[in-house]
Amino acid sequence: MNATPKRVEHQLTDKGYVPVYTTAVVDQPWDSYTDEDHAVWATLFERQREVLKGRASDEFLASQEAMGMTPGHIPKFSDLNPILREATGWELIGVEGLLPELDFFDHLANRRFPVTWWIRKPDQLDYLSEPDLFHDLFGHVPLLMNPVFADYMAAYGRGGVKAHGIGPEALVNLTRLYWYTVEFGLIRQPDGLRIYGSGIVSSKGESIHCLESDAPNRIGFDLERVMRTRYRIDTYQKTYFVIDSYEQLMEATGPDFAPIYEKLAQLESIPAGDVLESDTVFNKGTGEGWLDEGGD
Ligand code: PHE
Ligand code: FE
Repeated sequence: MNATPKRVEHQLTDKGYVPVYTTAVVDQPWDSYTDEDHAVWATLFERQREVLKGRASDEFLASQEAMGMTPGHIPKFSDLNPILREATGWELIGVEGLLPELDFFDHLANRRFPVTWWIRKPDQLDYLSEPDLFHDLFGHVPLLMNPVFADYMAAYGRGGVKAHGIGPEALVNLTRLYWYTVEFGLIRQPDGLRIYGSGIVSSKGESIHCLESDAPNRIGFDLERVMRTRYRIDTYQKTYFVIDSYEQLMEATGPDFAPIYEKLAQLESIPAGDVLESDTVFNKGTGEGWLDEGGD
């Protein structure tokens, strides 16, 4: 069988190249992974487990172990699902690539986490511009074992369906929340700042940068502040937001967002690198290496 991955295609629009979204849900074609695919998983898995010691949150590392992910071969969704279902009621479904927003929200609301079935090529170990199996499975799935985080993700899905009905501006606000928590969040443990965001844990360079570099801001999580903050998808983040606990995240996002969206519609968005007087600052970034402002 041929395992040539079906990549998400891009189309040139007035916003530049945007992915062509696909709704396809597929069975993970596990038998068609090549030795090279398994080797990419093994290399990335071993490399990141090493980098993440003392850098990823205890919860992330422990959950990954509890799921039984190993470097040996690309995990089978069908092996992970009983473990995940038992822990928090979540299950993994295979997808070709990025989903239309409403489909994505609907899956999350129903505790189905879409995982891209194909894995990057050996010359893409350090960077890929779209999610692949390594990012989705290694990065996102472990924390779904945590009951509080699992509830947060499902609540986010329900919130997404709602925001979609309110309008595009609400979706921008909500997407920023996802970006700065699920993808690029840091958490404060008793022994120091740790990573829980999947976009970071699946990147060797950013795992080190987000904690050890003086360049980025590290700022305490504040819901409205986060929802107003722009971000870039093509470079390391200028700002990381730090939560104290997953419970804090769950509580802060519990209230109805409808009035918050209304309020935020009256306020300017905040450039990705700005620090405000009202911020709780763990590190004020030097801004070294920052590219010009931009982003959503
Ligand atoms: N409380 C949010 C709302 O009313 C839903 C939500 C929960 C959004 C958790 C994000 C995360 O829209
Ligand atoms: Fe992601």
